[in-house]
Amino acid sequence: MQQEFDQLEAAALAELSRVETPVQLEEWRVRYLGKKSALTAALRGVASLPPEEKRAYGARANTIKSDLQQQLAVKQEELERDSIHQSMGGAALDVSLPGRSLPIGRLHPITQVIQEICAVFARMGFQVIDGPEVERDFYNFEALNIPHDHPARDMFATLWLDSKESPEARLLRTHTSPMQVRIMEVHKPPLRFVVPGRTYRYEATDATHDWMFHQVEGLAVDTDITLRDLKETLFEFCRSMFGRETGVRFRCDYFPFVEPGGEVAIECFQCKGGGCRLCGGTGWLEILGTGMVHPQVLARCGIDPTVYSGFAFGMGVERITILRHGIDDIRHFYSGDFRFLRQF
Ligand code: DAH
Repeated sequence: MQQEFDQLEAAALAELSRVETPVQLEEWRVRYLGKKSALTAALRGVASLPPEEKRAYGARANTIKSDLQQQLAVKQEELERDSIHQSMGGAALDVSLPGRSLPIGRLHPITQVIQEICAVFARMGFQVIDGPEVERDFYNFEALNIPHDHPARDMFATLWLDSKESPEARLLRTHTSPMQVRIMEVHKPPLRFVVPGRTYRYEATDATHDWMFHQVEGLAVDTDITLRDLKETLFEFCRSMFGRETGVRFRCDYFPFVEPGGEVAIECFQCKGGGCRLCGGTGWLEILGTGMVHPQVLARCGIDPTVYSGFAFGMGVERITILRHGIDDIRHFYSGDFRFLRQF
């Protein structure tokens, strides 16, 4: 019996030393350690032996099994090492070669501009917060002086999530202005906030329109805030953002939630005011809507309009980025095309 085992082990090891490929190794494993191998059969036979032989016989068989398994692992490692060596063309590793530099990731151009805008306002004492993209009719429209039958609803092609009858109806916010109301409901003056975030419009996409884009909203409420504070703050923002020399223009405009309402434009950076394609020949680029918070909006949020006043503003981040870099199509931003994104 002992002799048989010795022969088996010797034969297995001799054969193993001739193995050269993973396929041969697998064949070897099946032959000597597989279910149908002589060793497995011998181990199975232990049960039927007389008790005095059982122990020695079983122990020997187990030792052979673990020896062979160990040798198998060694061989396996050897073959792997060989194959790596071969795949390197057999050449020695040149440790003096400089390593390949890894590409470094970067922030999306829109994220970069949002951070820049928020940093300018943070320096002027504004806090940055965000708010929900799924809004209620009440916050997106009603509380901002845009009731159901108000024609200003046409300014905002809305993606509704519920049927649009009640102030509770949900929608994807069409602007960041609803955060004015949410802020004033919770915080009391003095207030200075900016709110960056995604906004949505039910719109066919083209080079200048997308159904999702970003805005930054701003709100300042305190005693004695006047139109002059609005202009100084926003003019300072424009000069910080676009350069000290940039000309800035304020004109009246209409938005239901402010009175008076206005619009701020900067001198076209391409033609310096002379008129070109970028500015549509006007010499000016409109970059934000603004105004003094409507007394009714303040009152609805529980802030006494006879004591407090404030200004608000909202700007489109894609628009600012497009103008700044002369980007010809808004759809590039979310195309995921690295040739575009790597430029920023
Ligand atoms: N929410 C407006 C829009 O999306 C922009 C805007 C205009 C925001 C005037 C304001 C504001 O806060 O005072 O077109």
